[in-house]
Amino acid sequence: MSITVVGTGYVGLVTGCCFADLGNKVTCVDVDRKKVQELQKGIVPIYEPGLGEIIERNRNRRLFFTTDLDKAVQESDFIFIAVNTPSGKNGEVDITSVREVAKGIARSINGYKIIINKSTVPIGMGDIVAQIIRKYGPEDISFDVVSNPEFLREGSAVTDLLKPERVVIGATNRSAAQKVAEIYEPLHCPVIITDLKSAEMIKYASNAFLATKISFANEIANLCDVVGADILQVVKGMSHDSRIGAQFLNAGLGFGGSCFPKDVSGLVQIGKENKFQFRILPEVLEINRVQRQIFLKKVYQAVGSVKGKTLAVWGIAFKPNTDDMREAPSLTIIPALTAKGAKIKVYDPVAMPRAKSLFKNVRYCKDPYEAAHGADAVLLLTEWNEFLQVDFGKLKKIVKKAVIVDGRNVYDSEHMAEKGFVYYGMGRGKTAFI
Ligand code: UGA
Repeated sequence: MSITVVGTGYVGLVTGCCFADLGNKVTCVDVDRKKVQELQKGIVPIYEPGLGEIIERNRNRRLFFTTDLDKAVQESDFIFIAVNTPSGKNGEVDITSVREVAKGIARSINGYKIIINKSTVPIGMGDIVAQIIRKYGPEDISFDVVSNPEFLREGSAVTDLLKPERVVIGATNRSAAQKVAEIYEPLHCPVIITDLKSAEMIKYASNAFLATKISFANEIANLCDVVGADILQVVKGMSHDSRIGAQFLNAGLGFGGSCFPKDVSGLVQIGKENKFQFRILPEVLEINRVQRQIFLKKVYQAVGSVKGKTLAVWGIAFKPNTDDMREAPSLTIIPALTAKGAKIKVYDPVAMPRAKSLFKNVRYCKDPYEAAHGADAVLLLTEWNEFLQVDFGKLKKIVKKAVIVDGRNVYDSEHMAEKGFVYYGMGRGKTAFI
């Protein structure tokens, strides 16, 4: 099949590259000339495990990068729109880029095409894209608009695309939906074919539900702190009920990244635009905001005044296996501590180059031990695997005070006590901060 993917952000790039790896001819289009030139040379702009190898295998054989949207559209049967839809001032979804791409497609369309919305777009956007193409395209042109939301997690996006738990396809014309389903046929996964608006809603509802699960776990964790229960034990006990499950109940610093905060706010806003007031989702966002403050209170309890104190920060990316810093808890926590006069030493396995423009008054270190050297406390913000393998004997000798504030509950509190560390987790029953 001949496919164009417009937008080489992490969704568009991973989608395009994986479709090429499945044997399709794929052209990835972006307006960012420098990024396209680098991709043409095989330079990957994001940290995403497995992606570099896929690009290398397919580049210039089945996988091409260009800024020329017209030519790409004319030579393809399927055009995926995967450009960004950032949050506007009030949390509304900014669809400017999607509209621009739709106009571009309308300008160059030269025969029947299937246009697929992969970007997370407000409910009803499929119809808007169709209207734009009808308005700006040739009069007698025939096309279908399909919604095919993505469920890729940063850091495991390649696996998520190649081994999906489901593929959702929404369309007015069932035969167009079936043609899109054929692209996914080699993956042998469940395919849900539905109408356009339901497909668009499935994406928002999925992310909002997962975010709700996280905020729920965080509220229970906060009560655990007060009553002396341990959230890890509580979730373990809950998760054996298959109706609940274990995933997305990890309490800690709350959710970040480019998706959950934006999509939950976006859905609240979509509600408002339709005179529908969500009650649960604004609370989900508020709980998430407060989690960062609860962590800071734990730091103040652990070290007292932070003025002049040295604090080691382990992990600054919004989650492991990515260098993405968008809405990362570190963006709130580090400035709050430096504003109070703390000296911050940072270590993150991959996100430090990206962070250099974000945090000025911090010292970047080559490993977790260098960051912890002379520290009054170690603050764990991102649960990278390498922090699980720490040599606590060595750590104890180099820190000034053996204190760990664990924002992701990766360590065992009893084990930490045996190693001689004062340990603060999130909802582990030892400290109360409500
Ligand atoms: C999320 C969804 O998981 C994907 O299915 C979706 O396609 C994607 O958004 C998107 O809309 O593009 P992502 O943002 O990459 O993916 O990351 P997740 O692994 O879902 O984690 C989101 C945030 O929740 C992270 O900050 C993570 O630390 C936090 N989290 C996750 C918790 O605090 N607790 C948990 O139990 C799970």
